[in-house]
Amino acid sequence: MAGDIKRSLESLPGVGEATAEKLREAGYRTVESLAVATVAELREAAEIGETQAKKIISAAREAAEFGSFVTADKILERREKIGLITTGSATLDNLLGGGVETQAITEVFGEFGSGKTQLAHQLCVTVQLPPEQKGLGGKAIYIDTENTFRPERIRDMAIGLAMDPVKALHNIYYIKSYNTDQQLLIAEKAEEKVEEENVRLIIIDSLTSHFRAEYTGRGMLADRQQKLNRHLMTLHRIADLHDLAVFVTNQVQARPDIFFGDPTRPIGGHVVAHSATTRIYLRKSKPPKRIARIFDSPNLPEREAVFTIVEQGIRD
Ligand code: GTP
Ligand code: MG
Repeated sequence: MAGDIKRSLESLPGVGEATAEKLREAGYRTVESLAVATVAELREAAEIGETQAKKIISAAREAAEFGSFVTADKILERREKIGLITTGSATLDNLLGGGVETQAITEVFGEFGSGKTQLAHQLCVTVQLPPEQKGLGGKAIYIDTENTFRPERIRDMAIGLAMDPVKALHNIYYIKSYNTDQQLLIAEKAEEKVEEENVRLIIIDSLTSHFRAEYTGRGMLADRQQKLNRHLMTLHRIADLHDLAVFVTNQVQARPDIFFGDPTRPIGGHVVAHSATTRIYLRKSKPPKRIARIFDSPNLPEREAVFTIVEQGIRD
C-alpha cells in the first residue's frame, strides 16, 4: 500500500549484490516478498547467517511500511475505490455485491464441470468492458496450470458482448505454469506486466492443482501450506497495490485418501480459506444451470444464485 512500489533488493542494508542475486534466484524479487519471509527461509535461500537474515527482514519490513497504522477513514477511502467486474449474470453479480472485486482475491471452488474455467474465461472478457457496461476497461493475465484455456471460447464470449474478438484476445496475457515453483515465480513476475500494462484482473486456473500433485501425503502438508501461503500473500499484495482483481479456481477434493478431511472441502484447507476475500462455491444443476453460493464472506450474506453457461458465455 506504500507509494514507492519498485525498490531494488540492494537498497536494503545487509543485501550485497551476490546476496541479492541469490535471493532473486530463490524467488524473492521484491522488498515486500522479503518482508513476509521467515528467517529460516532467507538463510536457506541466500546462504546467510541468522543475524543477517533478521537484519534483512526487519529492513524490508521498514522499507515496505509493514505494520504501520493508518486511520480508518483512509481504509474507507480505499474501499470506496474498489472496482467491480461483471460476471455476465446479473443474479451472480448481485450475489457478489455487484461483481468480482478489485483489491481482493476471489476463489471459486467446485467439482469438475461446475463452470470455474468458464467463469474465468468470461471475466477476462468482461474486465475489458467500459465501466458503463460493468467492466474496468482493463486487460487480463491468465495463468493456466491445467491446459484448459481456450481462445476460441474467448472469441465466442467477446462476440456475445458485441466486442471485437481480435482486440479481446489481444488484451489477455496468457502463461502456462508447470509446477509450484514456477507458479510462485510467475505471480511475482506478473507484477512487472501489471506495471507496464493496464491489467485489472489476474486469473489462476487452478490455484491448487500443482500443489496437490507435488505435495502428496500427510508429512508434506506443512510445507505445502507454507508455500501456498507465500503465494497467496504475493497475490494479495499485487491486488492491493495495483487495485486489481485476483480470481482463482480450486477443485474440491476428489481423493479423500490423499487429502484427509471432508472430501467435499476445497483443496488448500484453511490457508486458502482465510486468505481468499470472497469464496464462491459452484455446483451443477439441470444443464445449462449452475448454482453459486457465497462462503464465509466478511461482508456478504450466505445466499445462492442460479446462472447458466450458454454459447455466448455466462448469463442469467
Ligand atoms: P474442472 O476444471 O474440470 O474442475 O471443471 P470446471 O469447473 O473448470 O468446469 P468448466 O468451467 O470447464 O465447465 C465445463 C462446462 O461448461 C461444460 O460441461 C459445459 O456445460 C459448459 N461449456 C463449456 N464450453 C461451452 C461452450 O462452448 N458452450 C456451452 N454452451 N457450454 C459450454
Ligand atoms: Mg477448469
